[in-house]
Amino acid sequence: MLDDALLAIDNLCVAYDGSNALNGVSLRISKGELICVVGANGAGKTSLIRSIAGIVPSSGGSVRMKGVDITRLPPWEICEMGIAQVAEGRQIFSALSVEDNLLIGGALKRARDDQMGTLEFVYQLFERLRERRRQLAGTLSGGEQQMLAIGRAIMSKPEVVMFDEPSIGLSPALTDVMFGVVKSLNDQGITVLLVEQNVAKSLALSSRGYVLENGSVVLHGSSKELLENPDIQRAYLGM
Ligand SMILES: Nc1ncnc2c1ncn2[C@@H]1O[C@H](COP(=O)(O)OP(=O)(O)OP(=O)(O)O)[C@@H](O)[C@H]1O
Ligand SMILES: [Mg+2]
Repeated sequence: MLDDALLAIDNLCVAYDGSNALNGVSLRISKGELICVVGANGAGKTSLIRSIAGIVPSSGGSVRMKGVDITRLPPWEICEMGIAQVAEGRQIFSALSVEDNLLIGGALKRARDDQMGTLEFVYQLFERLRERRRQLAGTLSGGEQQMLAIGRAIMSKPEVVMFDEPSIGLSPALTDVMFGVVKSLNDQGITVLLVEQNVAKSLALSSRGYVLENGSVVLHGSSKELLENPDIQRAYLGM
């Protein structure tokens, strides 16, 4: 079972100036799954995503995609392997147009041949981005910037998309829209790793979940089990 994982993370460690942010995290994602990693402020969620993406170097452990060790690859090669991320805080290019932001996402080798087709797919998903395609990205609202960040990830034709708190700073209504988009991308075959502080909503959306505390996975299981777990209910669900 372990070996057919699309993404296999074993004992991943991240340290900043000698202090550990991840202390040996292991998790697995099969093709087509939507799993979540939930945890409070500072638990290590962003460090996990950034180390998988190759942006933050790991100090131990490994990341394998389809059995290939990608632990020390540079970020662009990890993107070429089919792993995209929608970063915390969006990280769009404010001074470029909406469409140029999307085309940058589509510039990878794996995505280049079908750039226009994928662009059309993104515009169908987010008509708002089509309407604003000539506008500078920095002038978009927070929700629109989140759409753009998701669109840019899709432009790279990923197999796996990692979402870092896609609901942060959004209204409850827009949060539901964003979670709906995450679900519909998964329904279309994209494997999803969703990292969130919104424990109730992400467990409702995912099939399995991992709970991260102080850089360690303290619990994992089916999302249903986790939602019914009294410790989770007390610590994260205000019950
Ligand atoms: N660039 C950095 N330099 C030093 N310490 C960092 C850095 N980034 C994160 N940390 C520390 O690592 C730990 C994990 O942070 P991380 O951002 O991964 O958590 P998080 O779960 O994403 O939190 P949040 O919910 O606030 O986004 C925290 O103690 C944080 O202060
Ligand atoms: Mg974070």
